[in-house]
Amino acid sequence: MTSSFDQPVRILLVDDNPTNLKVLSDTLKGHGWTMLVATDGVSAIEQAQYAQPSLILLDVMMPGIDGFETCQRLKAHGNTQAIPIIFMTALSDAEYKVRGLEMGAVDYITKPFQQKEVIARVKLHLHLKFLAQELAEKNELLTQEIAEKTAAESRLQQLAQELEHRVEQRTAELSHSLEQLQQTQLQLVQSEKMSALGNLVAGVAHELNNPISFLQGNLEPLREYIQELLGLVKSYQKTFPDPGQAIQNQINAIDLDFLSQDLEKILSSWSTAMERIYNISDSLRTFSRADKEHKVLFDVRDGLDSTLLILKHRLKANENRPEITVLKHYQDIPEIACFAGQLNQVFMNLLANAIDTLDDVSQSSSFESLQASSNVITVSTGLAADGANIVIKIEDNGAGIDESVRARIFDYLFTTKEVGRGTGLGLTIVQQIIVDKHRGSIEVASTLGKGTSFTITLPIQTVTDLPMDTRH
Ligand SMILES: Nc1ncnc2c1ncn2[C@@H]1O[C@H](COP(=O)(O)OP(=O)(O)OP(=O)(O)O)[C@@H](O)[C@H]1O
Ligand SMILES: [Mg+2]
Repeated sequence: MTSSFDQPVRILLVDDNPTNLKVLSDTLKGHGWTMLVATDGVSAIEQAQYAQPSLILLDVMMPGIDGFETCQRLKAHGNTQAIPIIFMTALSDAEYKVRGLEMGAVDYITKPFQQKEVIARVKLHLHLKFLAQELAEKNELLTQEIAEKTAAESRLQQLAQELEHRVEQRTAELSHSLEQLQQTQLQLVQSEKMSALGNLVAGVAHELNNPISFLQGNLEPLREYIQELLGLVKSYQKTFPDPGQAIQNQINAIDLDFLSQDLEKILSSWSTAMERIYNISDSLRTFSRADKEHKVLFDVRDGLDSTLLILKHRLKANENRPEITVLKHYQDIPEIACFAGQLNQVFMNLLANAIDTLDDVSQSSSFESLQASSNVITVSTGLAADGANIVIKIEDNGAGIDESVRARIFDYLFTTKEVGRGTGLGLTIVQQIIVDKHRGSIEVASTLGKGTSFTITLPIQTVTDLPMDTRH
């Protein structure tokens, strides 16, 4: 930065008297200053505007506009306002001196001039002017710096706010992703569990299929062959009423009459048993239905039955308790459009919880008292009063759920069971399948020591809700 002091100095001398001008410029010569001159107010103002002198020495008494008027006009104009003015007055003009200073002049010089005084005053005011100028420049710079800093600060603040906002946003996104991840994990764990079970069941059902068909297909010919053989034996008996002692002994030994009648009975109960095996294998297929992609029309009673069948081994009597009785109260309900495999998963979780609590109760009671009270699971289905929903209820007479536990049973990973017996996923999945996947609802009612009931409400969707290829 160049200092104001290094600038070339121009001094404008204004006086209508050329002698005065001469004396003044001679006085001020030799300091490296450039002298400009004007002999009247108007031309002084004009010159001041374009030449921008560093200082003006202005005579008060001039023809045309006098020094005061000139001073006033210079001060009124933005371009010349800051130029310091020194008035030149006669020694006796005390009033003029005061007036001049009031009008904005910085000083006055009295005529006749004292050379040294003039030089000293000019130097002083040049110095003051340059100092003021430098101060103004520095001020300007400072103001600029402050403005820049303020702008930077507010930008910084804005950035900090943006950052904070983005962190908040990102945190929200992350926690949302985490939640989704947990949900997906949950689904995965359960669907893996279920699909492993489903595959196993489907495999068993499939393997059973061939021998069942073989047995079923051959049952009728077997019955015919046996009847034909028995007919043949009867014909022999008729034709040869006396077959000889050895054969008669054999007939007595095998009790031929009883054998013939019993064979008939065995064959017919065999046929009933075959029917049952066939039904079981059919139930297994229902349970393992792989309809993960689309909703299908499904009678939830089939789902309940097939799930109960899968859990049959857990319902049986064991060394701690007698068999669990399952009561079914099935009212007529329509098929609903649903993810059948997932609903089976719901029934599986609720029934397994019911069996778990009955097992727990057994551990703390005597076999006799249990026999007297009997373990019961009641499964009911019905139509809701509004006609638009079906209701499924799964009830047990187990331990019931404590108030403080009840608030948390649907929570992710909440379990009261020991490690290895419960993961705390069951009811979370149940809720997800019923509420999120089927827009249904699930409620729990429980009395400590009496038992628990879960009530599921599911909308009956119309066939038009289903994709074309799954309607029937
Ligand atoms: N019928 C019921 N009677 C008494 N308590 C129950 C019953 N059903 C659920 N609970 C309580 O709710 C808790 C959570 O059940 P949930 O099915 O979610 O998990 P879990 O059975 O403990 O484990 P998981 O089902 O994952 O193997 C159980 O630990 C149990 O305390
Ligand atoms: Mg469970």
